Amino acid sequence: MLRLADKIAVITGGGSGIGLSAARIFAAEGARLALVDRDAAALAAAKAEIGAAVHLTLCGDVGDEAVVKSHAAEIATTMGPPDVLLCAAGWSTGHRAADCDLASWNAVIATNLTGTFLWAREVVNALTAVQRPGSLIFVASQLAFAGSRGNAAYIAAKGAVVSLAKCMANDHAMDGIRVNALVPGAIDTPMLRRSFARAPAPEAARARSISRHTMGRLGQPDEVARAALFLASDEASFTTGSCLMADGGWLAG
Ligand SMILES: NC(=O)c1ccc[n+]([C@@H]2O[C@H](COP(=O)([O-])OP(=O)(O)OC[C@H]3O[C@@H](n4cnc5c(N)ncnc54)[C@H](O)[C@@H]3O)[C@@H](O)[C@H]2O)c1
Repeated sequence: MLRLADKIAVITGGGSGIGLSAARIFAAEGARLALVDRDAAALAAAKAEIGAAVHLTLCGDVGDEAVVKSHAAEIATTMGPPDVLLCAAGWSTGHRAADCDLASWNAVIATNLTGTFLWAREVVNALTAVQRPGSLIFVASQLAFAGSRGNAAYIAAKGAVVSLAKCMANDHAMDGIRVNALVPGAIDTPMLRRSFARAPAPEAARARSISRHTMGRLGQPDEVARAALFLASDEASFTTGSCLMADGGWLAG
């Protein structure tokens, strides 16, 4: 039995990294997918690779309310209410709060926090309107718990995403909607490579990051995507308001 047979799943950030890996794994488990990303070429490549399981690719900014509403309406019309939402769109600028101009702050919050809120609101309202259960998964970060240097807006947004998951889990538990945060460690994706490249000594930054994991290595995107699969599936039927760490032991060290 496929673990997401006939489920409709929306994945933001589905064009790259963790979101793309989840798209592959969810498709293999029987889901029908709507992939959202602001990178049109990445969406086209994902559709070409994954094939018929990708029913919709939707290009636009998850932080833009009008765009999210129009994408959610297109999903409702052509696919129906989503059973699963994975919010994986994210990016960072690498500023300390002391050096962060307001435009950078707002842009990072808009994607990582507001984008999660906007998509979660649409999906929860679509599900409650037809009294269907569902699973929402917000990708947070180990840094929301551990803190770090030089990424204040991103880390603050990820902390807020954890709080949002807990709030929505309480608000919608009796609707049968589960809401959880997924907490990766450092995962070998384009985003992580960009963040190492910003450091004055990229190789040293990579080595430092590796050493923070008890397991002594970076994670791979599919290792987080499989944790998302668990949260998305009925196997996680009693799991809500939780934080699932897929961090190679970063937070245990
Ligand atoms: N890679 C890591 O080490 C790591 C660690 C902890 C948390 N995370 C989180 O995991 C999630 C996935 O990150 P990743 O490493 O796979 O990154 P990635 O850059 O490989 O993929 C992120 C995708 O999100 C898309 N995106 C970014 N901003 C967007 C926006 N405003 N609207 C629409 N699409 C947008 C990008 O185009 C990209 O395709 C992010 O939320 C990130 O913060 C990553």
